[in-house]
Amino acid sequence: MKRILTNLRISNMRMRNLSILVSGFAAAAMLSSCGAGGDNQGLEYAPNMYHSVAYEPYTQIVDEDAGRWLTSIEYPDGHAEFYNSNNLNPFHMNMREIPANTVARNKNGWLPYRFGKDSLAFAAAVKSPLDSTAQIIAEGKVLFDAYCEHCHGPKGAGDGKVGAGIDNPDAPGQKKGNYNGVPDYKSAALKDITEGHIFHVITYGKNLMWPHGSQISPEDRWKIAKYVKTLQK
Ligand code: HEC
Repeated sequence: MKRILTNLRISNMRMRNLSILVSGFAAAAMLSSCGAGGDNQGLEYAPNMYHSVAYEPYTQIVDEDAGRWLTSIEYPDGHAEFYNSNNLNPFHMNMREIPANTVARNKNGWLPYRFGKDSLAFAAAVKSPLDSTAQIIAEGKVLFDAYCEHCHGPKGAGDGKVGAGIDNPDAPGQKKGNYNGVPDYKSAALKDITEGHIFHVITYGKNLMWPHGSQISPEDRWKIAKYVKTLQK
């Protein structure tokens, strides 16, 4: 009986020692992973979940041997699992800096319109980049009806509803809310204006007409200009 009891006590002590040992290891692992700072992420669990194999602009790993210990994939240029920077760019950068004085083009490759508001005379000489196809003129009509017709009228005669105003209930026979001075596109002053001129006026507005440059894309402005020319015939 006494012997059994002693045996039990010993195995109890062994168990306790084992658990002290295990929790000691766990604590050590946790503490060592706390040593993160700067570029050191500390000890990572399942690191290939954090490190992208693809090129990433901001998480750039230039050490070709990083992650060698778990590489299961053969990369043709011999680097290890985590390496994700770009050998062709300066400083192994994944994202290149834009060269100085670069000008952004839009999705059609067009440069921004650079004439200022006061340059109507120069702008008038600019040729439309679009061809006069039936399709483009039809698209111009849809846009004109949405953006211009309410002032300029369906045929561009300056008789849109906004221009005319509404009957004034307080003063019978008179109008109110009318937007004066909307011209007729066929008037002597306007019948020969160019598409470049119309584009410029849509972009910046003119006197009582407000600018539309921020609402209508350059492509659409040229389409409208083409349609306005057809209204003048
Ligand atoms: C809020 C009413 C209004 C809207 C909307 C409007 N316009 Fe005008 N537009 C005017 C007025 C008013 C004038 C006369 C400006 C002036 O005093 O010279 C004018 C003038 C013009 C001229 C003559 C410019 C010149 O050199 O004399 C053109 C071309 C023109 N508009 C085209 C358009 C087109 C195209 C649209 C649609 C994208 C449009 N407008 C939208 C009111 C408007």
